[in-house]
Amino acid sequence: MEKEYLVGNLEELGKIAAKFAGEIKNGDTVALIGQLGSGKTTFVKEVCKYFDIHNVTSPSFAIVNEYENQIKIYHLDFYRIKNVNELVNIGYYELIQDEEAIKFIEWADLYSNVLPCKRINVKFEFKENNIRKIIIEKNE
Ligand SMILES: Nc1ncnc2c1ncn2[C@@H]1O[C@H](COP(=O)(O)OP(=O)(O)OP(=O)(O)O)[C@@H](O)[C@H]1O
Ligand SMILES: [Mg+2]
Repeated sequence: MEKEYLVGNLEELGKIAAKFAGEIKNGDTVALIGQLGSGKTTFVKEVCKYFDIHNVTSPSFAIVNEYENQIKIYHLDFYRIKNVNELVNIGYYELIQDEEAIKFIEWADLYSNVLPCKRINVKFEFKENNIRKIIIEKNE
């Protein structure tokens, strides 16, 4: 099942993110795919608001951020990962198996071979006039 949205501003994104937040559950992995500045971090930020988490920042330098409120969230970014050894060092293979947490991974497509088959892909595309297309698809 695939969903597609055209998003023109943060308010519209907030609504889509809230709906998405209501549908995900503990253990889920969300692969965020799209070029620089396409809105991956902003999407996670909006989803986290639904769980009353308001301090989300880009994990681009930290590689992994962890948030816990109503729910535990790991927010990762593969952009600066140079090889799979680094994934071992950051504890990726343990945290990805945490069934009590939701895992968001920016730039997940850079290491698609380490992703669980069962995941949700969220793709971000730039369209004309500041419009972004967001495609949400389940991968089983
Ligand atoms: N749906 C949207 N509507 C309007 N502005 C947006 C939307 N999504 C993101 N932005 C804006 O675009 C900018 C870049 O977004 P963001 O940092 O989320 O991108 P990113 O995909 O995480 O980039 P990176 O690849 O560098 O991690 C931010 O200033 C953000 O506010
Ligand atoms: Mg980002």
